[in-house]
Amino acid sequence: MRVIVPPLKCQGIKTKLVEWIFDHVSLDENGTWFEPFMGSGVVGFNVRPQRAVFSDINPHIINLYNAIKQGEITAGIAKEFLTEEGDILREQGEAHYYEIRERFNLNGHPLDLLFLNRASFNGVMRFNKGGKFNVPFGHKPNRFAKAYVTKIVNQIKHVSQATSLYDWQFLCSDFRQSLSNATENDFIYCDPPYIGRHTDYFNSWTEKDEQDLYDLLTVAKARFILSTWHSNQYRTNQALKKYAKKFTVFTKEHFYHVGASEKNRNPMLEAIVLNYDPEPQMEMIHVGQLALFEQKAPYEFQKVSLTDE
Ligand SMILES: C[S@@+](CC[C@H](N)C(=O)[O-])C[C@H]1O[C@@H](n2cnc3c(N)ncnc32)[C@H](O)[C@@H]1O
Repeated sequence: MRVIVPPLKCQGIKTKLVEWIFDHVSLDENGTWFEPFMGSGVVGFNVRPQRAVFSDINPHIINLYNAIKQGEITAGIAKEFLTEEGDILREQGEAHYYEIRERFNLNGHPLDLLFLNRASFNGVMRFNKGGKFNVPFGHKPNRFAKAYVTKIVNQIKHVSQATSLYDWQFLCSDFRQSLSNATENDFIYCDPPYIGRHTDYFNSWTEKDEQDLYDLLTVAKARFILSTWHSNQYRTNQALKKYAKKFTVFTKEHFYHVGASEKNRNPMLEAIVLNYDPEPQMEMIHVGQLALFEQKAPYEFQKVSLTDE
């Protein structure tokens, strides 16, 4: 699977786990895809459902994708903007980064977000208690080299084409509201913040949020996949034991990189929680003129029983 990378990066982005998640999705062709914690949108953008409601509590994410959908941001507009601002960044360095950050914190323009997202330290989005973007400069004045701008522009082109092909909505809302609209034939993909990690203005996640989410998923008529964590070298996710016993749980080892160094690879056992048993995925492979169905090579994952631990 060639994973389509979205134009926005965010903490906890699932680019490396998309294929694994994708292979467990079971979406009725008449159903709507609900993604109430869309973040970068990488999961739904790769599933490419006919109908989808992408939502997030962070209005800046939603504004960016609505601007692309409505043609206010096109590949051409983004190219011109990033090239011009990138040239000034090359000349003026961090002063220009902080100027754009201040401007964004006043007017919230999505093109400024795109710039900050790529020029910030570690390329992340983080907002302080007042809801202001507060990531420092990433110290790369040459960030917007021609090839890099082309890459971002192509990512915008992908989203733009998809929004004209499919019936996709982007809404700013709390998950409690978004989930209330899903019905039987729909599919829900949830990727909430993990408790205790990446906390910021739009990513505070409490015990109550966790409980509300499991309560809503427990009574959901739609099929769902919930992404969460199972354990790392120090801790085990107690919420999984507490709330997910009645569901199907799969795990897979994943390495999170902190900074650029290979040494800072933190292993984490990721989990997906499903309210159904997925069919083994079949993939069509072509051998000469013959089309054969073959079960996909198994991932290094396991179905876990939460009661055995
Ligand atoms: C882990 S990220 C999602 C990452 C996404 N799956 C990806 O691959 O890019 C969690 C997202 O949940 C959003 N969020 C946090 N609290 C929320 C809430 N109460 N309702 C809706 N979205 C929320 C955050 O703004 C953030 O974008």
